[in-house]
Amino acid sequence: MAIEIVPLAKSDIPGAVDCVQKAFADDPYFQWVFNDPAQFNIQRNAASLAAHFEYGLSCNCPISVAKVSHVLNDQKATRDVQLLPGTIVGVGWWYSPQPASTPQTWSVWAQECLLSIRQFLNNVRFLGRGGLNIDRYWIWKQVQHDAHEALWKDQRGYYFCNMVGVSSQARGMGVGKRLMESVIERADQEGIPCYLESSKGYPNVTIYEKMGFRLVKEIECADKGDVCKLYCMIRDAKTKS
Ligand SMILES: CC(C)(COP(=O)(O)OP(=O)(O)OC[C@H]1O[C@@H](n2cnc3c(N)ncnc32)[C@H](O)[C@@H]1OP(=O)(O)O)[C@@H](O)C(=O)NCCC(=O)NCCS
Repeated sequence: MAIEIVPLAKSDIPGAVDCVQKAFADDPYFQWVFNDPAQFNIQRNAASLAAHFEYGLSCNCPISVAKVSHVLNDQKATRDVQLLPGTIVGVGWWYSPQPASTPQTWSVWAQECLLSIRQFLNNVRFLGRGGLNIDRYWIWKQVQHDAHEALWKDQRGYYFCNMVGVSSQARGMGVGKRLMESVIERADQEGIPCYLESSKGYPNVTIYEKMGFRLVKEIECADKGDVCKLYCMIRDAKTKS
């Protein structure tokens, strides 16, 4: 099987949503913020993710997908038989660096308004947030904001890995690394550091260390004794422009 890394196109959004939902189904943060499985509405969650991808595309965020391009007749590739050409098996979504001195642009502000409207319409259409624990969501937002205030010292900003996920069938094949490298290489050329947060300590911290990240802080989102830990990692640029 050959897998290509390509920029996300609008037509890729349904496949990217499906990939993210499967890749993060056992993610500790996901399970903490959607803490009542009986309330979880997968269609509502898909609509929310699709709205976020639309937002990311409109804001020119560096978002890549790993797509099966063709299946090779390789005896060793037995685990790939289910993956048809065109299947999205990985998603890497980054935010571009935002220098501390640069205010948010009007176009990003407008896209945030549009995202809020889409989410409101999703609430109406699906009669709620589909199991999202809104108190926990805001706890996470505050903890994340405080972490960025404490850790983001570089005035030029950081390439922020918002999410990277690879389908279980395609893990350990270098797909995650290629999704990360597509932005890391650009960051190195520009001399800009990268940043990520992962709620899965094992094996992700080791995986990201192999890509040049170092663990800088462990933060906790706590709600009535139920805690979700996040591992904050920074990668310094390898070369300066
Ligand atoms: C984390 C994740 C994106 C990594 O993607 P992947 O395609 O499996 O990783 P790769 O195959 O590109 O491996 C990258 C490196 O990590 C190593 N690695 C991969 N899985 C590993 C594991 N379980 N334990 C230790 N090292 C591992 C690889 O050997 C490789 O190292 P190398 O460059 O020295 O060869 C993927 O496992 C995933 O989607 N996990 C679930 C969702 C998630 O947790 N996302 C991250 C949220 S921040």
